[in-house]
Amino acid sequence: MRLLDLLRKSTESLEAAGIEDALPDAEMIVLHALGMERLDAYVNNPEMRKADAAKIKRLIQRRRKGEPVQYLTGIVAFLGLTVQVGKGVLIPRPETELLVEEVIKTIKSEELGARSQDKPAGAASCDSRLTPYASLSVLDLCTGSGCIALALAKEFPDADVYGTDVSKEALAYARKNAKINSIQNATFLEGSLFVPVNDRKFNIITANPPYIRRDELDTLQREIRDWEPLDALDGGEDGMDFYRQILSSAGEYLGPGGCIFLELGFDQAGFVQKLAQEQGFRDVAIINDYAGIGRILEARKEKFPSNKPN
Ligand SMILES: C[S@@+](CC[C@H](N)C(=O)[O-])C[C@H]1O[C@@H](n2cnc3c(N)ncnc32)[C@H](O)[C@@H]1O
Repeated sequence: MRLLDLLRKSTESLEAAGIEDALPDAEMIVLHALGMERLDAYVNNPEMRKADAAKIKRLIQRRRKGEPVQYLTGIVAFLGLTVQVGKGVLIPRPETELLVEEVIKTIKSEELGARSQDKPAGAASCDSRLTPYASLSVLDLCTGSGCIALALAKEFPDADVYGTDVSKEALAYARKNAKINSIQNATFLEGSLFVPVNDRKFNIITANPPYIRRDELDTLQREIRDWEPLDALDGGEDGMDFYRQILSSAGEYLGPGGCIFLELGFDQAGFVQKLAQEQGFRDVAIINDYAGIGRILEARKEKFPSNKPN
């Protein structure tokens, strides 16, 4: 059998099992199993070796049972990084790339702005404006595969980037992902939220925390519900547990003028924005995704402590 016949059969098999994106999924599986480029496959349409055909059949069977295609191929592209994933770690989503892009934009714009700004005498300088990139420190909470931390570490190779997570399995992927992408300025620590970083201070804190409402977990697509780790999804009764915990402590871990960036569920922007304001953050902004949904919260810790008496 030739490759394109096998691809057609695989697609039909996935369609029959009710898989929505049957053709792209079958293509990804076949090309991954053969280690081939798409163009090469379509132009040359080689005869299949028995062993390859059997391997593809096994992967298609797993996909028919709902296993996400990214767990079958074991990799996801994330802002130019190759991110390895598998059972026990959340598959990075495209929305999360937006969060990283916003962080990069903010850091770069402040670095540019810094050149024309005067620093008030004696002012604290823990933000990125005055000692650019070289002293930049970033903390990515709930780091999972490390995708956010690693994308920022790659963009700012002189920065110190930390990622924390409670999951040993996720951290093993994050460390492996640092290695395969040749990133040396990212450190991954095990523990809940801020606990592993003790009293370090950061210019930037990021998080894509678990944010699904507990009563919605059962209604998720089966690829997510049955395969991705529950601890990566469950945001408590109202989905907001992690936002409350993170925003109530983030101020202690940010230097003056430091910024926090949080990924949000599709209907959470208003609530989390209010939480950030209540915690005393400034310049609280919501950034929409390409579908116009408020996806990212950006907020800043006051740059210069106010002199007002308490
Ligand atoms: C939604 S996933 C995000 C993973 C990754 N940052 C991404 O964007 O793909 C949430 C992550 O939070 C981790 N997590 C759950 N509870 C945590 C806690 N108390 N402290 C730190 N990480 C936690 C989970 O293990 C999971 O890796």
